[in-house]
Amino acid sequence: MSEISVGVIGLGNRGSSLLESMMACPECRITAVSDLYEDRRKKGIDIVVQHGGKAPKEYANWMDLVHDDDVKVVVIVCDWEMHIPMAIEAMKAHKIVASEVAGAYSIDDCWKLVDTYEETKTPIMLLENCCFDEFELLTTSLVRHGLLGDILYAHGCYGHDLRGEITGGNVNRHYRLRNYEHRNAENYPTHELGPIAKILDINHGNRFMRLASNGTRPGVGLEAFVKDSRCIDSTLAGQKFAQSDIVSTTLVTEKQQVVTIRLDTSLPRFYAREFTIRGTKGLAQGDQNLVCLDGVRLDTSLPRFYAREFTIRGTKGLAQGDQNLVCLDGSIPEIYETNHFYEKELNNANAYKERYQCDVWKNMTPEQRKLGHGGMDYIEFRVLFDCILKGKPLPIDVYDMATWMAITPLSTLSMEKGGVPVEFPDFTRGKYRERESQDVVELPK
Ligand SMILES: NC(=O)c1ccc[n+]([C@@H]2O[C@H](COP(=O)([O-])OP(=O)(O)OC[C@H]3O[C@@H](n4cnc5c(N)ncnc54)[C@H](O)[C@@H]3O)[C@@H](O)[C@H]2O)c1
Repeated sequence: MSEISVGVIGLGNRGSSLLESMMACPECRITAVSDLYEDRRKKGIDIVVQHGGKAPKEYANWMDLVHDDDVKVVVIVCDWEMHIPMAIEAMKAHKIVASEVAGAYSIDDCWKLVDTYEETKTPIMLLENCCFDEFELLTTSLVRHGLLGDILYAHGCYGHDLRGEITGGNVNRHYRLRNYEHRNAENYPTHELGPIAKILDINHGNRFMRLASNGTRPGVGLEAFVKDSRCIDSTLAGQKFAQSDIVSTTLVTEKQQVVTIRLDTSLPRFYAREFTIRGTKGLAQGDQNLVCLDGVRLDTSLPRFYAREFTIRGTKGLAQGDQNLVCLDGSIPEIYETNHFYEKELNNANAYKERYQCDVWKNMTPEQRKLGHGGMDYIEFRVLFDCILKGKPLPIDVYDMATWMAITPLSTLSMEKGGVPVEFPDFTRGKYRERESQDVVELPK
């Protein structure tokens, strides 16, 4: 079997866990690692060796890794600020790039990414692992088979209580802290937006036309949390934060579909991405593992069950009517009570898996499911390495990467102007009209 030599830049939380997912792919050889910190480089080398690999070369300067002849693929897993500069340098050195997710810092940077790709023709893929998750791919298959009809609306969020990670930034050497101190943006749009953009064929016959964002009063959740005994950094007492706890963004596509996304990372909550796809024939909701097709129950002009989605969020807890749910900070249950509808319908999506789920998920072994995020990280690298070995186009390309990352600076621009709609650039320069739909894995016929 051909080998693929991989250099990894960034060996913090995510980098060290990705090493395991990559090494579960037999053709992957980790030949070099780089991090600013020696202890993290050593830990990364140990992980490679523990998983049966040869000790990779160690670089304090990432540029040396990029220019190492024994590195064919550069995997970027570092602080958000460095993703685009590193990707550009690696493409110029004709190294295949696989970059972890982040929002961009300017539209200009997104254009530089696209221009460098077009000059060098070096393959690049955004490592948006949620595009490979089980429910998102099942839904993509349902959409491609026409079961959900004409898709008109989609919703998602990045709902993850990161108050500990953000305010632990000085102690844990983590980049989120400085971002939340100094910037207000939809700073992490791609987990929820990636699978939605794929389903809507963004950059493949469709595109985002405009976006509008609004944020809550900046800093409230974090400024409360730094006074809490759970904050591990007492030097942050009195610190001000520029970031809104909730940033709500509405995007409109050329086909006049509406997409809403929400950044939701600094108020008490449980993890959720709220992946929702609505069409003329049905809906799919990831958090409830729920598929409702028309005829099941019809209360409005689009098929759906009755709901008012009553939700109140504050610095000390949340209340959600549809789930009959009150969660107070510090005591948020891992599994919550559901109302009668959910009791009856929960997990009904399983019934569609046999016919519509893709083979990569059907064939997953229990060991592969244990790899990062229930196995989706493994599938992501399985697909990346397969494409490289077979010389196939990478499924989340530079145009997707620029488009999805551009949401961050565009959201800031919109918020600075009071939430007005801002135009979305077409990074394909019109090519989206001819680009055919491209799913991230092969779906059942
Ligand atoms: N896809 C996912 O599910 C997922 C999950 C977590 C994090 N991430 C992404 O992974 C990336 C890393 O996140 P993390 O939580 O592991 O952060 P982290 O701070 O734990 O790790 C980042 C590492 O990058 C290193 N680094 C920074 N600049 C560098 C440079 N110039 N040269 C070499 N190394 C450098 C840092 O020293 C640090 O060790 C982020 O982009 C984040 O958005 C993705």
